[in-house]
Amino acid sequence: MNQPIGIFDSGVGGLTVTKEVMRQLPDEDIVYFGDMARVPYGNKSRDAIIRFSRQIYRFLRTQDVKAIVIACNTASAIALEVLRDEVDIPMIGVIRPGAVAAAEMTRNKHIGIIGTQTTIRSRIYNEYLREIDPEIMIVSKACPLFVPLVEEGLLEDRVTEDIASRYLHEMKEYEIDALILGCTHYPLLSHTIQRVMGEDVRLVNPAFETAKSLKELLAENNLLKTDGSPARYRYYVSDGKDRFARFADQTLNCMVSVDAVHEINIEEY
Ligand code: DGL
Repeated sequence: MNQPIGIFDSGVGGLTVTKEVMRQLPDEDIVYFGDMARVPYGNKSRDAIIRFSRQIYRFLRTQDVKAIVIACNTASAIALEVLRDEVDIPMIGVIRPGAVAAAEMTRNKHIGIIGTQTTIRSRIYNEYLREIDPEIMIVSKACPLFVPLVEEGLLEDRVTEDIASRYLHEMKEYEIDALILGCTHYPLLSHTIQRVMGEDVRLVNPAFETAKSLKELLAENNLLKTDGSPARYRYYVSDGKDRFARFADQTLNCMVSVDAVHEINIEEY
C-alpha cells in the first residue's frame, strides 16, 4: 500500500530507528515527527506522555500514514498499550523488539538495561525479558544525563566518558554480557558506552529488531509499498528545525536540508 509509515520520538533519538527502517525497507515513504519542543519525555508524568502521544498520533493520521512506529522507549513504555486500543492502524514500539534481541544475544543470561527514569521505573523491559526466559538475571539503571549530552552533541567527550563510567561501573559487577540501549538517544553514545563496558559486553540496539518487526507487520497486513517509486521522506518537528536538520544529516548520513523539515504546532492536534 502506497502510504507512508509514521515514526515518532520526543526529539532526534528516533532517527536511530528511522535509519534502520530506511535500510531494511528502502522503498517505503516515511513521515517522521520529533517533539523537539517538549523533549525530554523521560522525566514527564504518565498522563503527559499519553497526551503527547495521542496528539502525535492525530497529527500523523493527517499525513495519511498506514502504520506507526513509536521510536521512543519512554513513549513505548507508557503509551503503546493505551494507544493500541484506541487506534485503527498497526502500531509498534521499540521495547519488545529490544527485549527479543537481548534474549537472543546473551550467553550467560545476565542482561543490563539502561534508559530514562520513566522507562526504567516502568520495568517493562524486565516484564518482557521474564516472559521470554524467566531465568534471565536483569540489572537496570537510569542514565538521565545521557540525553542532554547527546542533544548537546557531546558524543565523544571526556565529560561523557566520566558520566558513563559513573553510571555503568556497578553494572560491571553483575557480569552482564548484553546491555540494552533502552533509549533511542543512546546508540549515538555507543562508542563511549562500549569503551566503558569493555569489548565482552554486547550492546543491544533495539532499532534493528524494531525495523524487522515492522517489516513483518506490514507484510502480514498487506501494507508493503508496491508502486516501485523512490522513497520519499518528510520530517516534522514541534520546534528546533535547524538543530533537527543538523542531527538528521549526521545520523542518517544523507543530506537533510532545513527546507525538508517543517515546524508544526502539535498542541493543535
Ligand atoms: N527518546 C527518548 C527515549 O527513547 C529519550 C529522550 C527523552 O527523554 O525524551 O526514551
